[in-house]
Order: sequence, then C-alpha cells, then structure tokens
Amino acid sequence: MSLHDRIPNNVDLCNDRRLQKALEQWQPRFLDWWLEMGPDGFQTKDVYLRTAVSVDRDGWATFEHVKMPDYRWGIFLTPEERKRPVGFGDNPDIESFEEVPGEFRNPLRRLIVTQGDTEPASVEQQRLLGRTCPSLYDLRNLFQVNVEEGRHLWAMVYLLHRHFGRDGRDEADELLARRSGDANKPRILETFNQPIRHWLSFFCFTMFTDRDGKYQLGALAESGFAPMRRTCQFMLTEEAHHLFVGETGITRVLRRSAQLAKLFDGDVVKGGGIPLEIVQRYINYWFSYSLDLFGSEISSNSADFFAMGLKGRFDEEKKYADHSAREGFMNVPVIEAGRVTQRQVPLRNALNEVLRDDYIKDCERAVKGWNRALEEEGSSFRVTLPNRRFHRHLGEYAQHSFTTDGELLADAGTADAYYASMLPSEADEAYVDSLMVGVTKPGAFANWIAPPKNGINSQALDFEYVKL
Ligand SMILES: [Fe+2]
Ligand SMILES: [Fe+2]
Repeated sequence: MSLHDRIPNNVDLCNDRRLQKALEQWQPRFLDWWLEMGPDGFQTKDVYLRTAVSVDRDGWATFEHVKMPDYRWGIFLTPEERKRPVGFGDNPDIESFEEVPGEFRNPLRRLIVTQGDTEPASVEQQRLLGRTCPSLYDLRNLFQVNVEEGRHLWAMVYLLHRHFGRDGRDEADELLARRSGDANKPRILETFNQPIRHWLSFFCFTMFTDRDGKYQLGALAESGFAPMRRTCQFMLTEEAHHLFVGETGITRVLRRSAQLAKLFDGDVVKGGGIPLEIVQRYINYWFSYSLDLFGSEISSNSADFFAMGLKGRFDEEKKYADHSAREGFMNVPVIEAGRVTQRQVPLRNALNEVLRDDYIKDCERAVKGWNRALEEEGSSFRVTLPNRRFHRHLGEYAQHSFTTDGELLADAGTADAYYASMLPSEADEAYVDSLMVGVTKPGAFANWIAPPKNGINSQALDFEYVKL
C-alpha cells in the first residue's frame, strides 16, 4: 500500500512507470474538473471525511478533517485470496482474465466508460446543494458522497489507462469533458442529465440512483475480468454509505412531515414542511428514472456480456447453482395490440430484468422501513413504489404511458394529465426550493427534516462536521 505517493494506490503503481506517468498527467486535469464542476464553495473548508487508508475489512477508513481538494483520491483494488475461474457464461471453468482478451475489448471498454461516466455526472448534478444544506451533518455527507464519486471515477480511469492503451486514455479525457445536462456534451445516461435542484431530490437520488450503482457494481464484481471484479468490490464498500444517506434522508423527511401534520392539524405547509404527497411524487420520479438504468427488458447485450463472462448476475457466485443461465425463461410483460401481455424470453436475454428485480426488492424493503417510521409518528399516510412500467424512457414501456399500478393508459391526453399529477410539478419544485435555506449552526437542523439517530463515526450531532 502506497498511501503517501502522489497517487495513493495498492496496485504497485511505482513499478509501472509508463502507467504512473500517464495517470500523473491525468491527475491535474481531474483536479481542474473538480474545482470547476465539484461542490460550489466550501473547497477551502475542512470537512470531516472518511478516507481509504487500506482495503482491509476494519482498516479501510479513517476519519479526519481535510479540505476536499486534498482528499487522497487513489486506486484501491480488493486483494483476492484465491485464484478464481470466470465462473459463469459460456466458459465458466477457464481462469479469470488478468488482461483484456482481444475479442472482449470493445464491450468491456463500453461497460467501463458507461459506469465511469455516471461518477463525475452525479458530482455535477449535486454541485450547488452545499449552500442550502439542512445541517452540517448533511453537508458533510454530501461532500463524502461527492469525493467518493470522484474516487470511483479514478477507479474506472485506472482500468482504462492500464488496460486500453491509447483508446483508454482518450476515453479518460472524455470522462472529464462531458457535462451533466449539457446540450452539446451531455453525460451518457439520461438519468444523469436530470437536475438535482434541492435536497429532497438529492436524498431520492442517493436512495434510488446510487442504488442502481450498487446492483451494476455487484454484477460487475462477479466479472471474469479480475481487475474489474476487484475494483468494483472496493467501490461497493464506499457505495453503501451513499445508500445510507439516501434511505435515512427520506426517513427523516417523512418523520418530520408526519410530525408537522400532527402539530398543524394536517397542514404540513403551514408548519413549513414538505407534504407527504409531494415526497411521493419525488419517489415516483427518481425511482422510475433509476429503473431506466438497468437497460431494456429484452436485451442481447446483456446476453453477450454474460456469455463472455464479463458481467454476471448480482451475487452470481453465492446465489445461483446454475451459472450458465442457458436453461429457462422469464415472463416479461410487453405491449401488444394495445394491451399488456406476457412474453417468454430466454433467461440470458432477460438478465437486465433479473437485475432490476433484485433492485426493486431492495427498494421495497426500504419502503417498508419508511412506512414503519410514518406509523411510529402516528401518520396513516403510506408511501409506495410505482409499477416498473410507469414513466419509463427506455425499454419496452418507453413508448406507452401507464398508471402507477401498471395499467396501460391508451389515450394520450389522459396520460399527460395523469403523469402531471403523479410527478413533481413546477409548483412542487418551487415550493421545495423555498424551504431550502442553509443551516450551518452545529447541531441545528432545518425545520423540514428530522435529525438523524446518530452522528458520523460516533461523533455527537453538534460536532463540527464542516468547519466554516
Ligand atoms: Fe459511485
Ligand atoms: Fe454513489
């Protein structure tokens, strides 16, 4: 482990001078990007951040106050104790690839670039949130998420530089050139071009969109391309915190709204909180946009990635007995002659849907927890997840409109009005915006959100998480 090198790493960078030099040339460009597109303001402030100092189970993180530009972005691959075969696909028994097999070069590069592009994109989407933080605790969590997305970019750029030569270096530069929401140079996936205007969207994004990352990384952590597997395993460790921020953030909003409803005779707006119906509309929006990230329901790409042993299913090794996925079908609802019917799809062509199923189950678990919190606060309101067909921009359902229960809405006029009622309106956006005022007194929290149960790393809630 070389933590104090210019680029902290556990991949023996000092023994590969060419690679080290290439990455050292990319590093100042990354920093320029960070200063231009990373968190607005606060770059000179001390933030209580977790930094990787080792990839060991109990030593991988230390907490200290650092300025964000001094965060030790680096390259960390989880070591593997044993040699592992590819484990799934057409050639499960051959040894994992340490280098990229020629015929897999393009698909693998595409997987890495698509994943890599989401990391800086989300930092850009969240760029302006610092000024309206509901507390120093939340401000610190935002920055923790941001620096780690920066590190995930490093992780993907390492793979590109190390394994894809000239093409890889060009792709690494492009990752810093695209911009979220930019008309000319947008980010690759549309979800990552959607604005995150306020903290309610931030919590929904870290809950739902970062969670897509967990499942994509989980599938890539099974990869027969060993460097990818080891990279993704370590990214997953960091990702867990982002999901925690989102899930508990929404719990806190729901709790507070329920409390204000009680205090103000059901009038949450009068109490200065976010009405539960509005929270539900943001859940509808970000959940549906995040479902798009799993790709088409019926996909030959997913079949190819699996056959090549590049991308497995989530928990492929542990969860499944048959690693060929050659047998079996999945029933996928499709639209035919104006109605929803089931189509039998060979399993390998339905692997996006298999991953989406795992994801939805995980989200349903979180919803149960949110509704428990509402019940504890004496509210009878219950939040739900919309059906997977609702408000989709990609795949089988993109050309049609559906209710949140999954019923097809045949009439376009009805559908538009229905979607408008189920998704955040401009008035919702403006109202939520109006509640966003920066709260920066240690231990204080904005009125629209409940404090968390615990501080970070056992610190008190009034700890100075960011020194302003
Ligand atoms: Fe990430
Ligand atoms: Fe993340």
